[in-house]
Amino acid sequence: MKLKSTLLASTMALVPLSALAADKTVGFSQIGSESGWRAAETTVTKQQAEERGIDLKFADAQQKQENQIKAVRSFIAQGVDAILLAPVVATGWDSVLEEAQDAEIPVILLDRTVDAPDDLYMTAVTSDLVHEGEVAGNWLQDEMAGADCRVVELQGTTGSSPAIDRKKGFEMGIEDAPNIEIVRSQTGDFTRAQGKVVMESFLKAEGAENICALYAHNDDMAVGAIQAIKEAGATPGTDIKIVSIDSVPDIHLAMLAGEANATVELTPNMAGPAFDVLEAYWADGTMPPKWIQTESKLYTLEDDNQAIYDNKKSLGY
Ligand code: AHR
Repeated sequence: MKLKSTLLASTMALVPLSALAADKTVGFSQIGSESGWRAAETTVTKQQAEERGIDLKFADAQQKQENQIKAVRSFIAQGVDAILLAPVVATGWDSVLEEAQDAEIPVILLDRTVDAPDDLYMTAVTSDLVHEGEVAGNWLQDEMAGADCRVVELQGTTGSSPAIDRKKGFEMGIEDAPNIEIVRSQTGDFTRAQGKVVMESFLKAEGAENICALYAHNDDMAVGAIQAIKEAGATPGTDIKIVSIDSVPDIHLAMLAGEANATVELTPNMAGPAFDVLEAYWADGTMPPKWIQTESKLYTLEDDNQAIYDNKKSLGY
């Protein structure tokens, strides 16, 4: 009998954590598909779930918080084992998070943060969103080397944590550079189409010759803006420097063409660390730290943008 239980214990010790996920169901409330980065995150999350044998229930909120709240309530009603939530905006989550807590279903935030007490969710897998903006601002400060620069800014979705924090971080990144001034700042909603429309209005209001740089809160808006700059007869990357965030394949193509200058990488693999945490929790109740921080790496024209592009494409981004 003793031998039997010893054997059982040692066999269990050899079972990989992922095997414990095989009978688990996880609901994922995704924001939508506003950007290349968002599409990549969806792809990676589905891949990660499949590799680990997790049954993923996917809900696309079409950019609406009310749809996300409905999706989370539906996951609770279905009795899922955990919920992944990429929150479109930062506020308004307390009630639904309390409902998940009452149902004892752990919630993990992906890529964006919320203004709610942190005991209402298990952990948040995000980058340091303020730091990303700061990295972008520091890059521009170095690039300008004291020369005057009038900057236009394309903000992300109003009320979202990346829009709030990337703005704040960029301002911190240029605070020692009185030569750099943000002259216009408006939301482009993280989309390529709005990035183009808003950049057109900036160009009309200021004149291309009076804009020295564009800071876009994501690459997709920068790609849209590049088109607007070209249509206005100016040269993106030269007449107007461009720095943005995400490091999606298309911005590396633009960098290869000299039409964009720098990007700060945000990994789309938020689900990998989230599922690791859940597997440990399911195995023995291990609780993760409240924040799992992903890296924010700067890429410039000095990097091998072809290799970066090829690598990201090979990963399915
Ligand atoms: O929350 C992450 C941001 O959301 C990405 O930087 C942007 O592309 C996306 O829409």
